[in-house]
Amino acid sequence: MSLLAVSHLTREFGGVKAVDDVSFQIEAGTIHAVIGPNGAGKTTLFNLITGVYTPSSGTMRFAGTEANHQPPERLARLGMSRTFQNLQICMNMSAIANVMVGAHLRLNHGLFAGMFHLPTLRRADRACREEAAELMRFVGVGAYIDAHASEMPYGALKRLEIARSLAAKPKLLLLDEPAAGLNDSETHEVDALIQKLPPAGVTVVLVEHDMKLVMNISDRILVLNYGRRLAEGTPREIRENPDVIAAYLGTGG
Ligand SMILES: Nc1ncnc2c1ncn2[C@@H]1O[C@H](COP(=O)(O)OP(=O)(O)OP(=O)(O)O)[C@@H](O)[C@H]1O
Ligand SMILES: [Mg+2]
Repeated sequence: MSLLAVSHLTREFGGVKAVDDVSFQIEAGTIHAVIGPNGAGKTTLFNLITGVYTPSSGTMRFAGTEANHQPPERLARLGMSRTFQNLQICMNMSAIANVMVGAHLRLNHGLFAGMFHLPTLRRADRACREEAAELMRFVGVGAYIDAHASEMPYGALKRLEIARSLAAKPKLLLLDEPAAGLNDSETHEVDALIQKLPPAGVTVVLVEHDMKLVMNISDRILVLNYGRRLAEGTPREIRENPDVIAAYLGTGG
């Protein structure tokens, strides 16, 4: 059974269908890309999947449960995590604190323990900090474990955001343009990082404009155009699909 199954998902904004009758499935252990021109509905699709937006119609199953109309916190507890198209890092916090924030949904110790600084909480905090440091090394920003977020270059911050989303121990990670604004060698590093995720038990859905990256690392690709599903298949099938070539790749993609 697939990890995520989306059926006929539709979302309108003032009569315009930003996502229009989109269906697809994601198998556990794969990397699935979502591509399409600007305004095609990729981020809206992410916002629907993660519960940020309520669909106008359509259904969704995630990790064996009906997941329609669930709030983002509940979907996160079921094992969904994401990064954002526009970097969402707290610049007035340390790098490692940003990552530790990602674990808070999992580690709910309650108000009582928190108020009285109980030893259990101190131990949990130490373990959480060690885990966050390990995740920072995993994504390749181990050099910034003692740094403030504001001291980190943009490329490292993009990877710090991935570390934070991994701290929630997700089954499914949604990455919205993880290579946006990165140079070639930084893109290459993100590419290598994403490929390490399925073997570590994290299924990936990826929105990305960098075609080389998408074609290199994706098991399957969903192509959106004006909110609709234009095609879905392996990188090779997508590259050879005449509709995709006409609508997207042929226009400078
Ligand atoms: N909250 C909203 N209110 C009104 N319209 C919206 C809203 N969110 C998205 N849209 C519209 O939905 C359409 C799809 O936008 P979306 O951001 O999903 O595209 P995208 O594929 O992620 O584009 P990009 O590649 O530029 O990030 C656009 O026409 C956009 O203006
Ligand atoms: Mg977008």
